[in-house]
Amino acid sequence: MAAISIQQVHKHYKQLHALKGINFDIPEGSFFGLLGPNGAGKSTLINIMAGLAKATTGSISIKGHDVRKQWRQARQAMGVVPQELVYDPFFTIKELLRLQSGYFGLGRENEVWLDELLEILSLTDKANTNMFELSGGMKRRVLIGQALVHKPPVVVLDEPTAGVDIELRKMLWDFATQLHDKGHTIVLTTHYLEEAESLCDRIAILNDGEVVALDDKQALLARYPFRLLCLSLENHADIPAQLQDKVQSFEGNQLVLRLHRDHDTVNDVLESLRSAQINFVDLHTQEPGLEEVFISLTHKEVNS
Ligand SMILES: Nc1ncnc2c1ncn2[C@@H]1O[C@H](COP(=O)(O)OP(=O)(O)OP(=O)(O)O)[C@@H](O)[C@H]1O
Ligand SMILES: [Mg+2]
Repeated sequence: MAAISIQQVHKHYKQLHALKGINFDIPEGSFFGLLGPNGAGKSTLINIMAGLAKATTGSISIKGHDVRKQWRQARQAMGVVPQELVYDPFFTIKELLRLQSGYFGLGRENEVWLDELLEILSLTDKANTNMFELSGGMKRRVLIGQALVHKPPVVVLDEPTAGVDIELRKMLWDFATQLHDKGHTIVLTTHYLEEAESLCDRIAILNDGEVVALDDKQALLARYPFRLLCLSLENHADIPAQLQDKVQSFEGNQLVLRLHRDHDTVNDVLESLRSAQINFVDLHTQEPGLEEVFISLTHKEVNS
């Protein structure tokens, strides 16, 4: 059974068609990356999964439970960390976690796990601090704790690392990896594509409310037909016309060209540069990463 099954989901916000027939499964036990540029529809899809928004048509089920018709079972099976920080400022961390625990019918028997969560999230010494007294990164950690009070088998993280420092980012990724190793299904949205590339085993890329790629990470990368030729030029120069469509980036003296695996050779490209009197001081080739695949599919730069 899929951890999450998304069936023909459309979402309209008045005139805006935000999701245009989303249809895919998130396999149980996967570390799934839901990627896409700003406004692609990622949070809208996650909010529908969490029961916070309603699909205009279509349905989503979590571990076989329809999020509308069997919302109690669906919620029990899933913990969602929303992109927006929403919380009651006058509750302490511990009170918030206890309250959330209570929603799932859990009482004092859950205290050991709540204390463990505080420890894992490095919040133990702040347990009795009011939310409004916490920094942004601490609040985000509390929301992560809140999503995990009932040890849900499916954990959905919507941009958990936006605006947090490197140390916390690393801590969150380690934590997500540990949960995944314990058998949890993890769904992650992030604009840090190197991290998605190292963590996720399966990836969907959304663009303008549509799925433009859905595959195992390795297959997605392998399908990309280009590799990169990175050159340090002696001077900034005008790129000859026949190479213009191969330019991936050109900043200062650093030129990166896309070489088609079947049609382009390094030799031909270097010949073209030499005949245009362009000299280089260094070069290397590089396999493409998720970032190149993302840009080619969405035609949008990654913003982090
Ligand atoms: N409550 C709402 N009312 C009207 N339009 C909305 C609402 N929520 C989202 N939208 C619109 O739906 C589209 C998708 O937004 P969504 O927040 O799902 O994107 P996203 O992929 O999560 O982007 P980001 O990477 O910036 O978080 C956007 O055009 C957005 O303006
Ligand atoms: Mg979002």
